[in-house]
Amino acid sequence: MVSSFLCCYKNYNFIAGLTTAEHIDSLQSFEVQDSDIFLVTYPKSGTIWTQQIIISICELDGGLKEYPMNWKQMPWLEYPMPEEYSNRPSPRLFTSHLTPTLLPPGLKTKKAKVIYVMRNPKDNVVSYYHFSSECCHLETPTSIEPFLQIKQFLFFSLVAGSSWFDHIRDWHSNKDQYNILFLSYEDMILDLKGAVKKICSFLGKNLSEAAIEQVVEKATFKNMKNDPKANYEFVPKVRVQNFMRKGQIGDWKNLLTAEQSQEVDQLLQEKLGDLSLKFIWE
Ligand code: A3P
Repeated sequence: MVSSFLCCYKNYNFIAGLTTAEHIDSLQSFEVQDSDIFLVTYPKSGTIWTQQIIISICELDGGLKEYPMNWKQMPWLEYPMPEEYSNRPSPRLFTSHLTPTLLPPGLKTKKAKVIYVMRNPKDNVVSYYHFSSECCHLETPTSIEPFLQIKQFLFFSLVAGSSWFDHIRDWHSNKDQYNILFLSYEDMILDLKGAVKKICSFLGKNLSEAAIEQVVEKATFKNMKNDPKANYEFVPKVRVQNFMRKGQIGDWKNLLTAEQSQEVDQLLQEKLGDLSLKFIWE
């Protein structure tokens, strides 16, 4: 136990009580299929948004079994569910916040596709801060200052999902082993239709222009907020606004000080500078 809210297993922090070491170990023998599609993100990077896009694309492409809610259609692999996934028709859709080593090794040997979405760490931490203030499964931060300053998020990784830097590094430095598409939350905000087309092309889905428009329409912030299948209103003690809070880029400016912002810039350079990633934050 890292705290009453977090459990550390294999160097990764999980929300306490939602999974087990046995379940995480069992993922090492999880049988990946060539047609599987995995969405991987660090928490609060636009996971449920990208879920909505992937599900809509696959639905419009035909042949996707309907589920009442997106989280059931595209379950998180790290949380045990009373369902045998091998019975699902293809394409099976999965979500995960895990790092490469914790996910099934079959992801590397099969032709399964991985879509990885990253978000500006400043907006990511602010979104996480607001979410932690509301979600009963997470420790309530007293203010943004300790949340960032005691390096919960950036250094010591005392949040579910562990360190943002490690997550980005692990996925980018192992990218050659996967059939992977990297996207950013900012790409999606600045050009949602472009992002939908990129995802279609990566998934090999040849949708008509009208179908693409439909996917975009279903994935707008306003429409998703009112879509009970997608807005996660079912999560107990959490309001829709916590998953669908603002949906903007640059909200960090309302919370982080200039000093904190500089600290993140410096850390980005120090920790990920060698990866020559192209960050387009705004
Ligand atoms: P904010 O808290 O900054 O508003 P995740 O799904 O990984 O938990 O990420 C949640 C973040 O994605 C929240 O950010 C949420 O508002 C944003 N989001 C969800 N759906 C969105 C959409 N359709 N358009 C833009 N942002 C969206």
